[in-house]
Amino acid sequence: MQKILIVGGGGREHSLGWKLSQSKEISEVLYAPGNAGTKEEKGRNIPINSTKKENFPALLDLIKSENIDLTLIGPEAPLADGLVDYLNSSGYNRVFGPTKEATRLESDKFFSYDLMEKLNIPQAESIKCYSTNEAIKAIHKLSTKEGIVLKARGLTGGKGVIVCDSKEQALANIVNHTKKYGQDVLIAERLFGEEFSVFGISDGKKVLPLEISIQDHKPLLDEDKGPNTGGMGAYAPAPVANVDMVKYIAENIMTPIVQKMANDGVPYKGLLYGGMIMTNKGPKVLEFNVRFGDPESQPAMMMIKSDLYEVLSLALEGNLSGANIEFKPGASCCVVIASKGYPKKYKKGLKISGLKEVNSIKNVKVFHAGTKTYKDSILTAGGRILGVTSYSPNGIKEAQKIAYKAVSKIKIEGGFYYRKDIANKALKYDKDN
Ligand code: AMP
Ligand code: GLY
Repeated sequence: MQKILIVGGGGREHSLGWKLSQSKEISEVLYAPGNAGTKEEKGRNIPINSTKKENFPALLDLIKSENIDLTLIGPEAPLADGLVDYLNSSGYNRVFGPTKEATRLESDKFFSYDLMEKLNIPQAESIKCYSTNEAIKAIHKLSTKEGIVLKARGLTGGKGVIVCDSKEQALANIVNHTKKYGQDVLIAERLFGEEFSVFGISDGKKVLPLEISIQDHKPLLDEDKGPNTGGMGAYAPAPVANVDMVKYIAENIMTPIVQKMANDGVPYKGLLYGGMIMTNKGPKVLEFNVRFGDPESQPAMMMIKSDLYEVLSLALEGNLSGANIEFKPGASCCVVIASKGYPKKYKKGLKISGLKEVNSIKNVKVFHAGTKTYKDSILTAGGRILGVTSYSPNGIKEAQKIAYKAVSKIKIEGGFYYRKDIANKALKYDKDN
């Protein structure tokens, strides 16, 4: 029996740990730092704030003292700060995630743009700009009557992308944008279509896709209105991209990226996340992320039938060739329960109730994100609080119904906010609808 360590403490980490805990080979799942939910299902929380670089040595000590077999890093910050490199250089190689250099695929939009350009991977036509003046020229050149997009080069927690309806709007925003996020900015053609995510597990040479597409809901309000958030809900599979489309993307987009990075001496090991848009000219890449998506992981983990620990172990051994991931039939829907005021200011420390009742509903799992334990209570501790996640063998319509029924049982002091239309986009494909 093995112990594993999950770095992070959000809904993504809870869902990954929950899935890994189901492996017969796993005796315990440690989380650094975890949340109020991760103490269940073979879980144990370790109070190390692992997103801080100064705590990397404490993580290494933990791995050694607890004899941790496999470590999985959830969020991008410790990856971009070089946690994998740090652990590797200390002789510990059983860590799932890319090295600092390889995280440039997410943290440097110029790097990913150039890589895709070289490989002829479909993406928005774009111009790399190194100053506000260059950006203004590029806006004049690339704007159409449909608008234009401004994208900061570095990591901005999702805030550095402005989708503009017109050239005028872009010109009105560019000075402020470069002041806030730096002079390096990508000016990109505005694409239209349904967005979806694809997850691929890479062993450095080969990509094994999760053969299920997932759809996030980034805007705060129903019908995709309002400001962008970390994600207000997700469901899988997304009818916009069926299994064949997912395989096509893995073979023609993800595999060439991983092979090129290996040839360039920057092998990519870990989870490769393709943020895709289905345009009327086919699928195009909006962005790559170097980690599992959140909340997308929550419905994805609900749908996996296989032992995820076995697959991750094979990936770490560079041995994915014979591996295969099986999925359950049907669909999963995750509705995020957020603090009132998120993504701006919100209160913390509010009491949550109804969790036991919800978890007793068949085919429902509540993944915790911003929660903490205080005496006998569970309190809110972040913007996204819970991911109420359902499964139905009968498809998305029923999964959606179960998820919202479960949401109605949750109570939080002073109330909470959630979107009422998660997975509605899937219903328009539903023949029975
Ligand atoms: P990114 O961080 O690159 O995924 O961008 C965040 C969000 O901005 C995406 O989920 C899209 O909704 C939007 N976006 C980014 N690039 C484009 C584009 N070229 N055309 C239209 N929307 C875009
Ligand atoms: N849900 C979007 C992300 O994880 O980046």
